[in-house]
Amino acid sequence: MNIPLVNLKLQYKKVEKEILKGIKEILKEQRLILGKYCALLEETIGKFTGVKHAISCANGTDALILSLMSLGIGDGDEVITTPYTFFSTASSIALVGAKPVFVDIEPKFMNIDPVKIEMAVTERTKAVIVVHLFGKLCQMEKIMHLARKHGIYIVEDMAQSIGARKNGKMAGSFGHVAALSFYPTKNLGGIGEGGMVLTKSGELARKLKMLRVHGMDEKPYTHEIIGINSRLDEIKAFALYVKFSYLQEWNKKRIENAKFYNEKLKDLPIVLPDLEDEESHVFHQYVIRSEKRDELMEFLRKRGIQTGIYYPLPLHLQECFSYLGYKKGDFPCAEEASAKSLAIPVYPELKEKEREYIVKSIRKFFRA
Ligand SMILES: Cc1ncc(COP(=O)(O)O)c(C=O)c1O
Repeated sequence: MNIPLVNLKLQYKKVEKEILKGIKEILKEQRLILGKYCALLEETIGKFTGVKHAISCANGTDALILSLMSLGIGDGDEVITTPYTFFSTASSIALVGAKPVFVDIEPKFMNIDPVKIEMAVTERTKAVIVVHLFGKLCQMEKIMHLARKHGIYIVEDMAQSIGARKNGKMAGSFGHVAALSFYPTKNLGGIGEGGMVLTKSGELARKLKMLRVHGMDEKPYTHEIIGINSRLDEIKAFALYVKFSYLQEWNKKRIENAKFYNEKLKDLPIVLPDLEDEESHVFHQYVIRSEKRDELMEFLRKRGIQTGIYYPLPLHLQECFSYLGYKKGDFPCAEEASAKSLAIPVYPELKEKEREYIVKSIRKFFRA
């Protein structure tokens, strides 16, 4: 067998006809950037998440940068975040001129620990970027309570978690601003790069719309503020709109696969994702933790199963952040997660016999 970690070709088969038809129409019309399909996608995702304003942009990293810019965060400000995430959660903070302040994760879900957030708040703290890692919502009630108590903004990095919800409340609808990525491998992945910012605030939305187009207001070539160029293409917006109609079905399949693994692997000496409150996890990745991670990875590779390590080096130990003065041992939970985590295929198109083969292979490794 040959099982990849994601199978975009299979997913594309399902939507190919529709996407190609739309692309033809868009190319004929030659309205290529921020047109009717960008508006339609923004409206659709705004409705889905229950957040009034959705502003599309070029990618998820820009969505984070634009979020911070809209909140006026820059030089001299501190932004608290997790060291156990994709790089741009923290690079976006540095890129707007602010200081990333890392705090450790909680070991159960590997998301930022609200207790540690509170310990790191100073008078310079302007915001916290929380990451719903691998598709699992952070402890948003506690985090929003902290935000109110200390008067700080919450940015949700929801690149991996579109559709995750708690008591009917969607990822992206808790904080002041939320950043989405439509990178092709995401739960809602495009046919190229793409991103979006969500906010309930009309004032922030107006600013965000300007910031993504060089800070330009309605009047052409008139710049109220300094922005960047981060527009979404119509072709990409259309493809995302088509794929969006399958998102709920795909997320459901991911959760089903996760439940299958949890049931079949529960007696092994590995840590499995916690499935309590199943709607709050949309399994962008299904990540197990094992002392023997590297050997297991190699064993599965030899049996044709691709796995992935997210993330092999926590951000506080990256060379580019050495100026912040962190050292090994500062965030033991994040470091342990980096050393033990292994993502196994959980994509919606995974076939029953492939799932079974993956389970059989992992059991064989543990001689169980
Ligand atoms: C948690 C997280 N934040 C931010 C990003 C950045 O998104 P993009 O790759 O679209 O810039 C990603 C995805 O790559 C991500 O997984």
